[in-house]
Amino acid sequence: MKVAVTGSTGFVGSRLVERLLAENHQVVAFTRNVSSAERVLPKSENLEIVAYSPKEAGEWQEKISGCDGVVNLAGEPIAENRWTPELKKTLLESRTLTTQNVVNAIAQANPKPSVLVNASAIGFYGTSETASFDENSASGQDFLAEVCRAWEAEANKVKESGTRLVVLRIGIVLENGGALGKMLAPFKMFAGGPIGSGKQWFSWIHREDLVSLMIRALTSDMEGVYNATAPNPVKMAELTNTLGQVMNRPSWLPVPGFALEAMLGDGAIVVLEGQQVLPKRTLESGFEYAYPTVKQALEAILK
Ligand SMILES: NC(=O)c1ccc[n+]([C@@H]2O[C@H](COP(=O)([O-])OP(=O)(O)OC[C@H]3O[C@@H](n4cnc5c(N)ncnc54)[C@H](OP(=O)(O)O)[C@@H]3O)[C@@H](O)[C@H]2O)c1
Repeated sequence: MKVAVTGSTGFVGSRLVERLLAENHQVVAFTRNVSSAERVLPKSENLEIVAYSPKEAGEWQEKISGCDGVVNLAGEPIAENRWTPELKKTLLESRTLTTQNVVNAIAQANPKPSVLVNASAIGFYGTSETASFDENSASGQDFLAEVCRAWEAEANKVKESGTRLVVLRIGIVLENGGALGKMLAPFKMFAGGPIGSGKQWFSWIHREDLVSLMIRALTSDMEGVYNATAPNPVKMAELTNTLGQVMNRPSWLPVPGFALEAMLGDGAIVVLEGQQVLPKRTLESGFEYAYPTVKQALEAILK
């Protein structure tokens, strides 16, 4: 296959590109910064790095012609800074406008890609300590739910081109780095413990399973919305207990919410107020997880 990827230099995208290349696919990696992409992505004759301004239409869109599939991951990071009104606009538009331009590029392409795999997030459902959500559940009321709805609405327009659409509502992605990297800091200093109340849900997925699911979405007949979460979400207290066990570090010293907000900005909501998300359609599709439990995932990551 020839696969176009936006957000190709990110935590998820860079691993997806590596895995696609390792499986002998061709990759067109879109980036706003070619020199950083050249540093981050593997050297390969099957990789073409293309500069783009994702919020604007441009020549870059022609590179989508002749691709078999597109994976659209671009988006301003959620959990790095305070959500000022300007940042909120960027969080939204970096997703909606990029998706709009990708979908327009697919509409104009000849030949057209047969599939678009579009990222979304479990923030679609809002947060709750009591409810559980599957792909048929309604959307939430908060800012992240609003962003995910708008993002998915733009992706849905690709159906007018006859292109198969897979929307992945992604949980918190576990691997060295990412959200876990930031959460590990207190544990490394022997001062780890429940983050926030500990009662909030933590719906997660190992990065390798997420990338496998993306490749499967490209190559199978999957269609529609799938929760990209492991089948065993945990409460935060269970996550931090398991972290303590796997790292052989104490896990009783609570990490207050404000400490996490200092590290993650307003995006700390993702870890402080979670949601229990079950991958009902993903399991029904026959997807097999390499890391179904958080203990297996953390042991593999921290070994
Ligand atoms: N990681 C998670 O736990 C998680 C959970 C749920 C959903 N997701 C979603 O999955 C997608 C990929 O996640 P990730 O963890 O790989 O994200 P990431 O590491 O922050 O990478 C996202 C990529 O998007 C591009 N980007 C950043 N800011 C942008 C902007 N303002 N406008 C356009 N493009 C921008 C960057 O690529 P260039 O600089 O090369 O252009 C960056 O490499 C994101 O949309 C994220 O919201 C991630």
